[in-house]
Amino acid sequence: MLKIVTIVGARPQFIKAAAVSREIVKHPEIREIIVHTGQHFDVNMSDVFFNEMDIPRPDYYLDINSMAHGAMTGRMLEKIEEVLNKEVPDFVMVYGDTNSTLAGALAAKKALIKVVHVEAGLRSFNMHMPEEINRILTDRISDILCCPTDKSIENLTNEGFKKFPCQIKKTGDVMQDAALFYGAFSAEKSTIMRLHGLEENDFTLCTLHRAENTDNHNKMASILDALNQISQEMKIVMPLHPRTRKIIESLDINLNFVPIAPVGYFDMIELLKHTKFVLTDSGGLQKEAYFFNKPCITLREETEWVELVEAGVNQLVGSDTEVILTKYADLKCHIPVFTNNLYGCGNASKQIVDILLADNPVFV
Ligand code: UD1
Ligand code: UDP
Repeated sequence: MLKIVTIVGARPQFIKAAAVSREIVKHPEIREIIVHTGQHFDVNMSDVFFNEMDIPRPDYYLDINSMAHGAMTGRMLEKIEEVLNKEVPDFVMVYGDTNSTLAGALAAKKALIKVVHVEAGLRSFNMHMPEEINRILTDRISDILCCPTDKSIENLTNEGFKKFPCQIKKTGDVMQDAALFYGAFSAEKSTIMRLHGLEENDFTLCTLHRAENTDNHNKMASILDALNQISQEMKIVMPLHPRTRKIIESLDINLNFVPIAPVGYFDMIELLKHTKFVLTDSGGLQKEAYFFNKPCITLREETEWVELVEAGVNQLVGSDTEVILTKYADLKCHIPVFTNNLYGCGNASKQIVDILLADNPVFV
């Protein structure tokens, strides 16, 4: 039996792991043990995904959240190490770039267990982002790096990874697998359009939660000023991350529109399918906008998903009110043309599982 411990903790990781778990269960010779660090814990930031996406229940729930980076990562490291000592898996699988990702990779590597990093090789080249630190360190100690794009392979090559004792594989993007699979029946499962009286193309979908924006009060004020102005002419639907809600409340900023609570994945897909535009600082949402052919304005100075910018379907605008409004006005007049298949063809999860089986020839 091939044993994999999967580490998840934050919303985008539940979605990515859902896609890969769907593939793992097809193989009776693989056993997956899911460890939820607890980094995200509200029902609509965590349970909703396990319930509606049929993700296997976590075997371990570590309940580590709402702490400074060092404390959070350190406690996760300690607890994950305990799980690994008990389970002794063949692989530890980590996703993306959160504190849960780094803690999982580090605990595994120190225990001499092979680390598989899904979404390897991405770079923003901004070392002020906690995500950039997490992804660089995780890549460096990973044994199998599953890269979603050509650019991610190029980044690793430029950093000398070809000389390191690791496998670098281009697999495509597991988020595309999830969008394709769950997107096929989101309309049956979601009531969000009716609930909020939304019509096709009559709203802009917006999310905002990255520390680089939320922790800078000037940036927050400037972005929210732009959103307030946009909302005068187009409805804004904004499922608000608890981090952002707390900060808006503490800064006492007035919004001209009413944000909604974070939504589940089926609701999110329905919003993506029907929105006119996407305005976001999310990593995952930039790609999902592309999967559903929606132009995206990214409220950041740089992105890891540079191919979207090069294809002209995503524009980086940062946080300046006037820049956001100008780009938004431009976009209304010049809707970009969408190219196909920047992220593979929806079989990344299968490729990843095949790579793990091939690494253990006895199972092939
Ligand atoms: C984390 C990731 C970020 C990712 C995001 C996905 C890190 C460093 N950051 O950021 O890369 O884009 O997840 O959404 O790992 N909170 C709640 N309820 C929840 C979850 C969080 O109230 O269910 C609150 C926490 O108490 C904390 C704040 O939100 O006050 C931030 O949570 P945290 O997990 O530290 O980081 P995220 O901003 O969610
Ligand atoms: N998402 C969701 N409900 C929400 C907001 C986001 O289901 O209210 C999904 C989104 O569609 C994407 C993932 O969560 O699949 C991205 O998470 P987030 O933006 O929190 O993190 P990031 O991708 O920036 O790390």
